[in-house]
Amino acid sequence: MSLNTFGHIFRVTTWGESHGPALGATVDGVPPNVEITPEMLQVWLDKRKPGQNKFTTQRREPDEVEILSGVFEGKTTGTPVQLMIRNTDQRSKDYGDIVEKFRPGHADITYWQKYGIRDYRGGGRSSARETAARVAAGGLARAALDKLVPGIEIKGYMTQMGPHGIDRARFDWDQVEQNPFWTPDAVAAAEWADYLDGLRKSGESVGAVIEVVARGVPAGLGAPIYGKLDTDLAAAMMSINAVKAVEIGEGMAAAALTGSANADEIYMGPNGPEYSSNHAGGILGGISTGQDVVVRFAVKPTSSILTTRKTITKSGEPAEIITKGRHDPCVGIRAVPVGEAMMACVILDHLLLHRGHVGENQGKIG
Ligand SMILES: Cc1cc2nc3c(=O)[nH]c(=O)nc-3n(C[C@H](O)[C@H](O)[C@H](O)COP(=O)(O)O)c2cc1C
Repeated sequence: MSLNTFGHIFRVTTWGESHGPALGATVDGVPPNVEITPEMLQVWLDKRKPGQNKFTTQRREPDEVEILSGVFEGKTTGTPVQLMIRNTDQRSKDYGDIVEKFRPGHADITYWQKYGIRDYRGGGRSSARETAARVAAGGLARAALDKLVPGIEIKGYMTQMGPHGIDRARFDWDQVEQNPFWTPDAVAAAEWADYLDGLRKSGESVGAVIEVVARGVPAGLGAPIYGKLDTDLAAAMMSINAVKAVEIGEGMAAAALTGSANADEIYMGPNGPEYSSNHAGGILGGISTGQDVVVRFAVKPTSSILTTRKTITKSGEPAEIITKGRHDPCVGIRAVPVGEAMMACVILDHLLLHRGHVGENQGKIG
């Protein structure tokens, strides 16, 4: 059984472990003639790269991506693209304690229960280093989308750190690239810096909420029932390490609204239908409306913290563990480019599905 692949036409299979020689992604179904270079993918990997500031793990990995196949003279050929990232900072001694003990909040115990064998070095396959492969694949998806849907934009940002949310009245799209938290609220960024610094110094950690928006997605992507765009987006985001909840548009808050408040009214604009609001998150009946596609996900606090935690050993003896090594006090920061990558992969996949099944949109309005 192979469970390391996602996507229907644009299919991404990731492989590798945290402390193996390398990890990567095999990407099949890539449209041909898409201009791509390792440097174009590197832009996104650098966004996810650890050690960029004091708020992310000090693990030093250049995360340089190599393209091994599927590209000829700078363009995709339509054949599988093999992407590889070598692991260069494997200090296995940092993780020695977890050979016998299960770290609370980690997958150590469940991998052991399920498989009876686990690569304990840095969490092995469960390590979020795997997300570097997704980000590389997402870069490929972005390049294909840029060609097929010019002007499409995919952007992620943090809207909450621990209990502290942004003020949407201060939302500034251009601010996202200006602070270490990828947040659109400059005031929140300054407050979070102090807050997270305190947590980091005390060896604690905190969760976060990340929102990812795809702008310029054409109407018509997605299909009814089992092929819903939101189904695939939710699965894609939920598959990211540490993600515990996913929302589309209004999400959980929709339950508290009345029908008149929630149903986005439709009117005719100069270039086609427009909506008075976007509670639906750009998706109706599983199919994109042409509005922004808005997905939000919650990331749990980093489990590896510098406090002693109770656990058990493989033989069932009670034990205590402190997870030494280098860790992010808030993994939500580095989850932002991962969420963007998953959005890009799912949107491209559904664009290809739509073109294969329907071609051009059938129902014209106006
Ligand atoms: C980008 C990113 C970086 C992460 N880094 C860490 C880390 O440094 N320490 C840690 O305990 N968990 C980290 N995690 C979360 C763990 O990988 C995850 O909690 C663990 O594998 C268990 O899986 P689950 O939380 O999805 O159940 C990170 C997650 C992401 C998305």
